[in-house]
Order: sequence, then C-alpha cells, then structure tokens
Amino acid sequence: LRSASGLLDVALTASRSRIVVGGTTVSAMTYNGSLPGPTLVVRPGDRVKITLANHLGEPTNLHTHGLHVSPEGSSDNVFRQVETATTADYEYQIPDDHPAGAFWYHPHHHGMTAEQVFAGLYGAILVERDDHIAVTRQRLLVISDITFDSAGEVAVTSQMDRMAGREGQIMLVNGQVAPVLDAKPGDFERWHVVNACTSRYLSLTLDGAILSLQGNDGSRLAAPRQVSTIDLVPGARADVLVTVPAGAVDLLADPVDRGSAGSMMVGAPRSTSMVTLARMRVSGEPAAVPQTATLAPPPLPLRDLRTETLTGSRTLTLAMGAAGMGMGGGGMMQFTIDGHTFDPNRVDQSVARGAIEEWMLVNTSTMDHPFHLHVWPMQLLATGGTTESEAVWRDVVNVPANSRVRVRIAFEDFTGTSVYHCHILDHEDGGMMGIIAVA
Ligand code: C2O
Ligand code: CU
Ligand code: CU
Repeated sequence: LRSASGLLDVALTASRSRIVVGGTTVSAMTYNGSLPGPTLVVRPGDRVKITLANHLGEPTNLHTHGLHVSPEGSSDNVFRQVETATTADYEYQIPDDHPAGAFWYHPHHHGMTAEQVFAGLYGAILVERDDHIAVTRQRLLVISDITFDSAGEVAVTSQMDRMAGREGQIMLVNGQVAPVLDAKPGDFERWHVVNACTSRYLSLTLDGAILSLQGNDGSRLAAPRQVSTIDLVPGARADVLVTVPAGAVDLLADPVDRGSAGSMMVGAPRSTSMVTLARMRVSGEPAAVPQTATLAPPPLPLRDLRTETLTGSRTLTLAMGAAGMGMGGGGMMQFTIDGHTFDPNRVDQSVARGAIEEWMLVNTSTMDHPFHLHVWPMQLLATGGTTESEAVWRDVVNVPANSRVRVRIAFEDFTGTSVYHCHILDHEDGGMMGIIAVA
C-alpha cells in the first residue's frame, strides 16, 4: 500500500484467520488476513493514517519499529491499549529528513507482544527516497518463525522456551516456507531483509556469494561493505545488493550461538541446524553487464555524533536472575534493567530535549540481549573491545553475554515518553523494558 499525494490512509484489521502455510491450512493472527501484513510504502514528509480494528478477542496495539516519529498522542504511542472489538486511529508524520530503508510494524502490548508477534502480527514499512541505485529488481524479505501444533493452531510456548527466547519450528520468508525466487544469472538485486522473528538471531548466507551491505536499520554506510553473511538480531534490518550467481543458490540461515540462560535451566531451545529459507531459481540468458552501485550514495541524514560535545552519559545494566526459586528449583527467571522489571508507572530515564548522550549498555548475564530504543536512533560506537570505524546507526544493538556496548544518541526533534527493551520479545514481556521520558 503506497502513499498518494503525501498521505497513506490504511485500515489494518487484526484477527485470527485461516491461512495456508507450507501447504497446510492453519490458524494464525494476521493483519488483513495475510501473513505478513500488507507492506506500507511511504516517503519522507508523508502523513500516515492507520485505522486499526482489533478482532483478536484480546487487547493489542500498534508500534512502528524504527520510525523516527513522535511517541505521543495517537502517533507511535506504545502505552495505548486497543481493546478487542474496538478500532483506534493512529497518525504519524514522517519527517522530511527521515532516513530511507526498511522498517516494520508489530503489536506492543506489554505481556502479549511475544505471543502476538509469534502468531503472525507483523508487516514491513518501506521509506523510499530517490537513492540512485539502478537494480534489476528489489525484493523485500520478511523473515519470521512460528510453530503450529497438530491441530494447526499456533503452539503454546513452554516457560523454558520463553526464558531462552522462543524459536519457531518453521521459518518463513514473506509468510512462505522455502519460496522460490526467480532470477537470471547476473541480475543485480536490492534486498531489504527484516528479522521479524520473536527471538531468533539470523545469520544468513547465499551459498557463499559475496553480498554488498549498504546499511542496516534506517541508515546507509558511507561505503558498502562486502560480506558473506548478513547478521540480524531480532528487529533488525539489512539493505544489501546481490549479484545473482549462475546456477541454483539457496538462502540459508545458520544457527547462532546467543548464549544460554544458565546451567540450572533451559536446555537447547535454539536451532542447531542450518535452515533453507529460500531457493533462487536462476535461469535464462545471463543478464547484460551487471549494473554497479558506484553512484554516490545520498548524504546520510544521520550525522556523526562522535565529534559532538556530550551533555550526559548513563549506564544501563541488563541482567537475569532467579526469582521466587523454590528449594526444588523450577522458579521463573527474572529479566531486569538496572535491577527492575518493567513498571508502566515508573520513568526510568529522564532526558532533556536536545541532549546528546553516551549510553553504556552492560550485560551481566550469560545470554546475548538485543537492546532496542524507540524513536531515537543509536549510533553504535563499540561492542566489547571492538570499535566502529565509521558512523554506524542502529535501532537495535546486540549486547553480547558478559559484555558491553557503547552508543550515542541525539535526543532531538521529539519529546514524549517511550520505551527501550530487549527485542527477544519474551524477555521484553518478562520485564526487560524501561521507560524513557524526553522533555
Ligand atoms: Cu520492535 Cu519496542 O519494538
Ligand atoms: Cu520498536
Ligand atoms: Cu533479552
């Protein structure tokens, strides 16, 4: 669904639907009966109106992940609750200088986010700008995972899997199991890849082909990087250029070690084998000389904060600990930030509008946590001992087990209250989330 004359006006209906996945009819939660939901295509400067109708039989709401829009009122306000059998209007103003790229939308009702995303509620948002890369075709690949029980219902997730961060038994690309992507040898393609998995980390390869990484989340690199893997933590996106090799090639997801929740619980809920996500069927006459992306990239709308004067710094500590453990064990693991689980009535970080801050994200646990901040993009400075050599922007950064990450954030443009959290959505629902108020 594409905006026309500066306005995108869409209706999204969240409901339980019968859909076909991998040749089997199953039930899932969908937007407008499809999984993923419709792709919203907008341009900087557009206004977006979404009328969300909730027919789920339980509360929900809507979040536009990664968009730099106001967190207030009926915009990207995750504190709104949309009851079942009601509709709610959302309105967003996309700033004129909004970065281009792939973003996405999903529910954000505390305590139900993981369940609703896992069950199928997500869709992509493309922010388009003229960026002068001539390609044979663009592809949007929304990657997700899900598990169905024998009755074709979304499977119930065990407490153990929630603690570790659930990984679905089936992986989907645009809602399909191992779809076939047709191309000619030498075709030059631009892929926007979205990790919409509830908790799974992705490490993607295209049978060893070299891919040209243009950027991540809402940002572009100053110069593309040649990579053989695309690494995406939950919630993250990549913008890559692919020269299609001759012959059949598979898009593969390799298992990722993201640590474990500790010795006393949680076995190995994570994938241990490679999954074929999609197959490219490459046939026909080789395309003419492949296009090259040597045209200058557009100026980054996100400036380099490394040389700017800081007005503050803070440290946030992500931790896991046993809560209410009985003598026989079996208690719940607690997921905290600075010693607290989420409290909707507590502001955890108060920031002055206009501040430029450096945040140290410390992970004292034995698992990685993908840290996500709403509204304000983070410039990644260093992960553990590895420093970024250029201005790299993210809206989700991985904080490895027993390690730390440094980011800079410019709290400009918007005031209001929003959240930061672990994007292993089971951890978010388990309390690993805090409130930030910018005033
Ligand atoms: Cu993708 Cu707070 O979420
Ligand atoms: Cu978000
Ligand atoms: Cu986590």
